[in-house]
Amino acid sequence: MSVTLPRILALETSCDETAVAIVEGARVLASEISSQVPLHRPYGGVVPELASRNHVINVAPLVRQALATANCDISQIDAFAATSGPGLSSSLLIGNTVAKALAVTTRRPYLGINHMEGHLLSPFLSAAVDPCPCVGLIVSGGHTMLIRMDEVGSYTLLGRTRDDAAGEAFDKVGKMLELPYPGGPEIDKLAASGDPKAYDFPRSMLHSGDFAFSFSGLKTSVLYQLPELREKAPAQEWLPDICASFQEAVIDVLVAKALKALAATSMNCLAVSGGVACNSRLREALRDRCADAGHRLLLPSAALTTDNAAMIGYVASLRFARGLQSELTEDIDPNLTLA
Ligand code: KG4
Ligand code: ZN
Repeated sequence: MSVTLPRILALETSCDETAVAIVEGARVLASEISSQVPLHRPYGGVVPELASRNHVINVAPLVRQALATANCDISQIDAFAATSGPGLSSSLLIGNTVAKALAVTTRRPYLGINHMEGHLLSPFLSAAVDPCPCVGLIVSGGHTMLIRMDEVGSYTLLGRTRDDAAGEAFDKVGKMLELPYPGGPEIDKLAASGDPKAYDFPRSMLHSGDFAFSFSGLKTSVLYQLPELREKAPAQEWLPDICASFQEAVIDVLVAKALKALAATSMNCLAVSGGVACNSRLREALRDRCADAGHRLLLPSAALTTDNAAMIGYVASLRFARGLQSELTEDIDPNLTLA
């Protein structure tokens, strides 16, 4: 007997991507994203006011586009969801207000969703498998954390970064190296032809005995290396090696701590998410190490790794199935935590 799952329209506007998706459980009927990266590139980072004003411009056409892609009418949507935090308040408010307005006019429920829960569960959406107990490694531009998930809704924070997030470190080092914003994908590309052992950068907190991270010391080490290099040779001669060595230092710590977390929790499934999970060397290292240790590894596709609304709709559908919904009076929370 086939069960009809609720059809959810979800909006994600926590930072600079405007995204709208329509899902039925793990079935993604539409996932539309309008990237603002080129708009923010001249500023070397996200400008909050520019982001929110462009969400306003992009959101209605994207909702229409998602409905067209899913070949459905707004009256066929069972509930509306939006990211309610964490993120930039002026950006969060746009998706939130639109979702609430759609819920009011169609007399359907509204669900406010935690962006980090979206990332955490995105590997399950991507693999189309039911969520199971796992350690979640979330590595994005704003967060780096290890989470123990016993079941959907039951999360324990094992550790997080004490300073920069992994993606933030990639972007800041990219800026120092005068690479286009965001630095993460550029460093990934350049590192492919570099020697990861060329520079011995610090692996901060590798042996700290906990699950905390720190990347600001590594960033400073790269900075100190640059004047001498710039003096000696043109950038194209040392850039690949610097990128590969920096990237390897980040990855060594992420992979080692994720494996330690699996051992400490006696879990055997690692679910990796967030924009940095696109990194080709990180994916390769995780695959190798998890295979050696006999752990199951869930790595989302690139489209579900960076910010998207399908992951928000997926979490909304899991909550809706449990009878949960949000009040229309519920506020956004730029500092919302997961555990
Ligand atoms: O999850 P995400 O799209 O947005 C946040 O919620 O932060 O992550 C964006 C981050 C940026 O810092 C970007 O540089 C990084 O993900 N990123 C990468 C790669 N692709 C995106 N970092 C390293 N290697 C990549 N290939
Ligand atoms: Zn994100």
